[in-house]
Formats: sequence, C-alpha cells, structure tokens
Amino acid sequence: MNVKLEDKLSRRNFLKKTGAFLIVMIWGGSIWRAVDQGVFQAGRGSAFEPWEKQDNGAFPDQLKLIQAAVLASNPHNTQPWLFKVTDDYIDIYADESRHLGAFDPFKREMFIGLGCAIENMMQAAAENGFSARLQYTPLSMEPLCIARVHLEQAYVTPAPLFSYIFHRHTNRGVYDGDRPIPAQLYQEMEHLTLEEKNVDLRWFSSTEDKKKISDLIVQSTEAIIADEEMSIASNRWFKDSWQDVQQSRDGITLDAQGESFFIRAIGKMLPPLSRERNDQFWLNATRDRHTATAAAYGLLSVRNAAVPQQPVRAGRVWQRIHLFGTKEGLGMHPLNQLNEMSDREQALKKTSFFHAERSKLTPPGWDGIFLFRLGYPLKTPLPSPRRAVEDVMM
Ligand SMILES: Cc1cc2nc3c(=O)[nH]c(=O)nc-3n(C[C@H](O)[C@H](O)[C@H](O)COP(=O)(O)O)c2cc1C
Repeated sequence: MNVKLEDKLSRRNFLKKTGAFLIVMIWGGSIWRAVDQGVFQAGRGSAFEPWEKQDNGAFPDQLKLIQAAVLASNPHNTQPWLFKVTDDYIDIYADESRHLGAFDPFKREMFIGLGCAIENMMQAAAENGFSARLQYTPLSMEPLCIARVHLEQAYVTPAPLFSYIFHRHTNRGVYDGDRPIPAQLYQEMEHLTLEEKNVDLRWFSSTEDKKKISDLIVQSTEAIIADEEMSIASNRWFKDSWQDVQQSRDGITLDAQGESFFIRAIGKMLPPLSRERNDQFWLNATRDRHTATAAAYGLLSVRNAAVPQQPVRAGRVWQRIHLFGTKEGLGMHPLNQLNEMSDREQALKKTSFFHAERSKLTPPGWDGIFLFRLGYPLKTPLPSPRRAVEDVMM
C-alpha cells in the first residue's frame, strides 16, 4: 500500500470513530438530561408522595386532616396555607407570602384556594372519627386566620367524596367536546352547592353560550400576557427544572399541562422557554385545546366577592364539585382569565370591559368569581407537586 492511500484510510477510520464517539456522546448526553429532568419520573419523587394515601396508624388523626388539606385545588399551585393544630381544633391561616400579586389583586383566588383546603379537611374529619364544626374568622385580632375547624371525637358517617381527594387533578388536556354530560350529573352538582346559600352555580352548555365564553377567555388571556406585571406574577410559579419541582414542591409544571409524553419530554430537555414564549404556549393551549374542547362551562358567583368569607365558601363548593367530577370520570379545569382581568381592571381603575362582560353571565346582584370547563377527558391527568404536612405547620 502506498503512503497516500494508507493516510486516506486511517483518516477515514479516524472520522468514523470520531463520528461514532460524537453520536454516543450526544445520545448519552440526551439520556442523561432526560433522566436529570425527570422525563421518565412524571408524578414520582418526594414532591408527589403526599398523593399516596397514608394509612400509618402512628400518624396523629388531626394531621390526617392536614394531609387531605394540602391536596386541595389552589391558584397556580401556590398552596397559600398554614395550619395550627391542637387536640380540639385546627386553625387555617392565609400565607400571604404565597399570594399571586398583580394576578390576584383582591386575593380572591387565594381565599378560594383556602376554601378548597377547608373542604378537604371537612371531608377527612368524618373519615378519621371526628365530628367537625367550622367557624369562620375565629380570631378578630388575626385576620389571616381564615377559619377554625373544631373537632370532637364521635361516630359519624364517612363523607362519600373523601376517597376522591387522592385522585382529583386539574385536567388541562383534550376533552371529548361532542360527548354531552347527562342532565342528572348537572343536577347532582347543583345539589352539592345548596348548603352554601350565598354561592350560585350556573351552567353554560349551548353552542352559543360556549362560543361567547370561549371568546372571552381567549381575549382575557391575550390581555393578561400583554400586561407585563401580570405575566411576571404568573410566570414566577412556572417550574422549568425537575430539581426545582422536587425542592419547592409547588407551582405549575409541564407534566400538569395535559400534553403527550413526547411534547413533555422535548419541553423538559430543551432550555427553559422565555416568559414571552411561555405566555404564547399558554395562549395557544387556551385557544386550541382548553376552550375548543369544553363540553360545558360552570360559573360560581357569590353575593359579595369583597367579603373574604364568600370566596372561601365558593372554594368549598368548587372542591366538592371537583371531587364529585372525579368520581364520575369527568375532566375539570378552572379557567379564570376572565375573572383575573376583571379584578385587574378594577384594581387599576381603568376600563371595565371584562368586568362588564362577566356581569352579563352572572345573576343580577351577584359577583362572578370562578369559571371552569368540564367534559369527558381523553387522557388521565398527572398530579401536581405538593409540600409535605410538616412544611405547612405553624
Ligand atoms: C382559585 C383558583 C383559580 C384557578 N385558576 C386556574 C386557571 O385559570 N387555569 C388553570 O389551568 N388552572 C387554574 N386553577 C387550578 C390550579 O392551577 C390547580 O388546582 C393547581 O395547579 C394544583 O393542581 P391540581 O388541581 O391538579 O392539584 C385554579 C385553581 C383555583 C383554586
């Protein structure tokens, strides 16, 4: 073999080997990043352990109520709650450090989330051998103490929705928009609200009503992302890294967006999206999936949204409806952009377009406060992270 040919062959070999080496490195790097970013771990790890029902007899019964409380629906998964536990009662406090700021200027969503936690506690009380009595704002000198649940050991009939607390998740995926919800289910959900005299539940399932509400939700989403302060307040709670999810155990994750495994995997492996691109992703999902596949909308209203106790009561109703929906195999998804923009307009004392549009949906003299879509989902949702009981005790 002459020298030139030998040279050529060894160069070709070298290039082949380098190519193979690079492929292995890129492939290996991708696998490493996939593992590091929790691509194969969705819904697992310590941040998701609170969803596993604890039957550990060594755990004091009062704390089992807190275990149920932390699994409640809540705005942006901020988990804005703290609990003080005694043998006879549990106090529920608002944790204002977890408030959404410009996104929730009157703290209505925070109060609704606290109501959701209270509802889970009331459901869990009977299960754990307590008769529970709820007292709102028990301490006049401590306005952040939202409610006290008085506990007395008694034989009480277990609450029928209790077990669904561990399976309830917000479903942001595609619903079967053509499959109607039986009239009887609407009635049963209305029945669940009757105890709360100052909370009204209204359904919107006609094509015309759905179009009107869908358009308003998309328009209000556009308005939110055009408002830098709101966008920043919201994006602060989006979790890009798997480590952050496992450490902070709160916020909105990619896994909870109702996307396919493939999209979630790509999303986790790529560098974090900018705030603007995140907003665009949210707007597209709102337009093309959330509103486009809603079988119906429900709207909760209260007599006076400015009185904190009323959003708290609306939160109790929402949690109960969501537990019922879970039992019936319904997908449920709060979509509160219209309420958020209405509050924002009022806080800035500017225009009141969204406020006026929302008023058209509520009964005269009532304040609309919580909007959600429902339908039969095509996919099972994944859980959101939760802080542990010991992290939320005062
Ligand atoms: C007051 C309130 C407002 C909410 N608004 C929205 C919303 O507009 N869009 C949304 O996707 N989820 C919304 N949610 C759902 C929360 O983001 C969700 O409950 C939280 O991330 C925890 O997830 P989980 O319900 O699956 O446990 C809202 C929940 C509450 C209580």
